[in-house]
Amino acid sequence: MRSNLIAGLDIGTTKTSTLIAEVMGEGRRRPELRVLGVGQARTGGVRRDVVTHIEETTESVRNSVKEAELMAGVNIDRVWAAISGDHVRTLSSMGVVAVGGEEISRNDLDRVHEVARAVALPPDREFLHAIPQEYTVDDQDGIKDPLGMSGIRLEADVYLVTGAASAATNLRKSVNRAGYRVQSLVLSPLATARAVLTEDEKEVGVALVGIGASTTEICAFHQGRIRHIGVLPVGGNTLTNDLVRGLSIPFAEAQRAKERHGVALAQLVDPQETIELPGPGPGQTRQVARELIAHIVEQRLDEIFGMVRGELEAVGCLEELGAGIVLTGGTAALEGVLEMSQQAMGMPVRIGVPREGLSGLADSVARPRFSTVTGLCLYGADRFHETGEGVSTLSSGWITRIGAWIREFF
Ligand SMILES: Nc1ncnc2c1ncn2[C@@H]1O[C@H](COP(=O)(O)OP(=O)(O)OP(=O)(O)O)[C@@H](O)[C@H]1O
Ligand SMILES: [Mg+2]
Repeated sequence: MRSNLIAGLDIGTTKTSTLIAEVMGEGRRRPELRVLGVGQARTGGVRRDVVTHIEETTESVRNSVKEAELMAGVNIDRVWAAISGDHVRTLSSMGVVAVGGEEISRNDLDRVHEVARAVALPPDREFLHAIPQEYTVDDQDGIKDPLGMSGIRLEADVYLVTGAASAATNLRKSVNRAGYRVQSLVLSPLATARAVLTEDEKEVGVALVGIGASTTEICAFHQGRIRHIGVLPVGGNTLTNDLVRGLSIPFAEAQRAKERHGVALAQLVDPQETIELPGPGPGQTRQVARELIAHIVEQRLDEIFGMVRGELEAVGCLEELGAGIVLTGGTAALEGVLEMSQQAMGMPVRIGVPREGLSGLADSVARPRFSTVTGLCLYGADRFHETGEGVSTLSSGWITRIGAWIREFF
């Protein structure tokens, strides 16, 4: 029996993660994934989500994919890879065509999409996504799926995402040199949203807030449409750097203190509680009030949520968030972050963890830091259902991998 393997690769600032899953549920509207393997490696050669040292990033990719392959007991040849960074731009575009026959056909849809994405792109930019948001047939707007409807004029509202060609190329190179092929680049916030938001939430209005290490991703939806995508240059590393300064300790110590003892809301901490940190000299230790750590973390998080609120307000979608906020990313594992963010945002918040549509070893990705990599596989599986492309089939993995490598060099 042929099995369709899908793989996601997320090269984050701190960790590079890989997920390998089998696509199930053919014929159903939304695919299901049977999780087979997860891999994680420390990321090297990436700054602010952009590859700056190909050799180092290649090594991270190789280690991460190998680990997932070993756990899954299969080899893959291609990955759906996340792309992010402040080079990403979004714009809305309209396309209009006359309907060819009596009712709207697949061909009319293809034509209207083509018209909508026919915007002039400078050579240093690359198209990442063209996402149809809704259609207007003659005078009727707000149509999600116009296939088979009758009309004479079809209009499409398409959300376009572009990125710097150099960033995309370097990402592909790092993956190719590790021996794999990039099936497609997916904008990181879109992948994350696919893993943790429900269709109902997107309809009612929701904002995904993914706080990773160096960035905070925002992706807002209303009435099923993308309303805003943004990436703020702050994240868990910003909290750690505050602890480095506030406690005069090295970065690695501060990171450990944050992950082990950090709390997002100082009022949740017993003022008497202390924790042990390394002292000024070798072998020395000192006691620090846990409340102090919480204060430092809370202040910065408050500022981050203030920025998120400000951005959502500026683009006019703060009032549309009937379903509130879904918080995810590594930093969403911080103790007390739910209470803290609810206060700061003034609306309901839930922690987004990949769960929906997953079986097999689903527990191994049930953490907020795996939202992006899981979303990549789900996103890829959606496209596979539509087009039949984007999967590795279970067979002679190493031969196809060498194939990918040869294609890259010749
Ligand atoms: N238990 C925890 N408490 C607090 N912070 C945590 C915890 N676990 C992880 N983090 C923080 O989460 C961040 C890593 O998150 P994640 O893995 O989502 O980032 P990334 O994908 O590597 O980075 P980015 O998406 O910004 O490129 C780090 O700053 C880490 O310290
Ligand atoms: Mg990330």
